[in-house]
Amino acid sequence: MSAKIPVAVLAATGSVGQRFVSLLDGHPFFEVTALTASDRSVGRPYGEACRWLLAEPMPAWARGLTVLPTTPENLGVQIAFSALPADVAREVEPCFAQAGIWVCSNASAFRREEDVPLLLPEVNPEHIELLTFQQQRRGWSGGILTNPNCASTGLTVALKALQQSFGLKRVLVATLQAASGAGYPGVPSMDLLDNLVPYIPGEEEKLEWEARKMLGQFTPEGVRYDEVALSAQVNRVPVVDGHTACVWLETTQPASPEQAAAALRAYRAPALAADLPFTPRPPLLVREEADRPQPRLDRNSGGGMTTVVGRVRADALLGLRMVILSHNTIRGAAGGSIYNAELLVKTGRVKLPLSGAVSML
Ligand SMILES: NC(=O)c1ccc[n+]([C@@H]2O[C@H](COP(=O)([O-])OP(=O)(O)OC[C@H]3O[C@@H](n4cnc5c(N)ncnc54)[C@H](OP(=O)(O)O)[C@@H]3O)[C@@H](O)[C@H]2O)c1
Repeated sequence: MSAKIPVAVLAATGSVGQRFVSLLDGHPFFEVTALTASDRSVGRPYGEACRWLLAEPMPAWARGLTVLPTTPENLGVQIAFSALPADVAREVEPCFAQAGIWVCSNASAFRREEDVPLLLPEVNPEHIELLTFQQQRRGWSGGILTNPNCASTGLTVALKALQQSFGLKRVLVATLQAASGAGYPGVPSMDLLDNLVPYIPGEEEKLEWEARKMLGQFTPEGVRYDEVALSAQVNRVPVVDGHTACVWLETTQPASPEQAAAALRAYRAPALAADLPFTPRPPLLVREEADRPQPRLDRNSGGGMTTVVGRVRADALLGLRMVILSHNTIRGAAGGSIYNAELLVKTGRVKLPLSGAVSML
């Protein structure tokens, strides 16, 4: 019997799916036993069906796995990491949950439902308890838990530290989002090279409500959204990985740049999520240099799980301004889902097969 929990990656051939395969290689809790994708790839060896885009080599165990159809039947897994397109996720993910599988989803399809946790474990791990409400309400023996849009991720981690110390009133955000956020092949190179595209469908709306749900108060029947007012403008830029956000904000209690930087630096994940393998160490890194963070230099901080903040300074209109960077396919996608799945283990919803591994928790 394996000492690890068998897991599947749904849409394993895509940009986020590959990150899952790479990040799950050697994970202490999880062993990938199934990879799925679309009809284009089903029946082919993963090494052949997948156009591998990462610098790290494809793990040897993945290369020979036959790509399976995206259905729960006979998968034999307890957790499915979903990198499905949102329209496919809406149809398929409930079938997995009904079949007793926990779906850790990157897709936007269920994020806004009142019984579905939208999780960043270093921000709101207690929201995972919505799964009890979800199972009762939908009669599922599994469930769906989601991570936010990749651009909401770093923003929300930084906002949480400031909300906790000073309270939040108003936030303006302008993003500079990497090409990989659009999947592969994504935006045509002729549209993006020597250019910037000031529009990403649906993204501004997500930025304006997702942080409010995650910063909100948990109740057993849903989350009371935080009342902070958010306004977002998004841009796609010719960067491969790493989303940058330029942020202006007004806190409830006045805070100097030094006090804000100290609060960001001191922030730690709540105890429930503080000691898991994918816990960002540290959750927030504050850079002092005048020209940081930069995507190429800073996106891999903390293995791509740490949110990097810089240029924390006074603002004449709202009080504070800063620049926030987060790795979109690691913290903002696959790494985030893996951290969510670790929280499933930590809260006892999924059990490690052999008790020896429990000592890691
Ligand atoms: N990229 C990011 O930074 C990011 C961040 C957060 C969330 N997300 C979300 O994560 C999801 C995946 O994004 P991505 O960037 O990885 O996209 P992508 O590179 O375009 O990959 C799409 C994947 O979906 C599979 N697929 C398409 N139709 C399918 C079907 N009917 N049944 C099963 N599999 C199907 C494809 O399989 P084939 O190869 O077989 O066609 C491929 O594996 C999306 O919901 C996206 O919004 C992405």
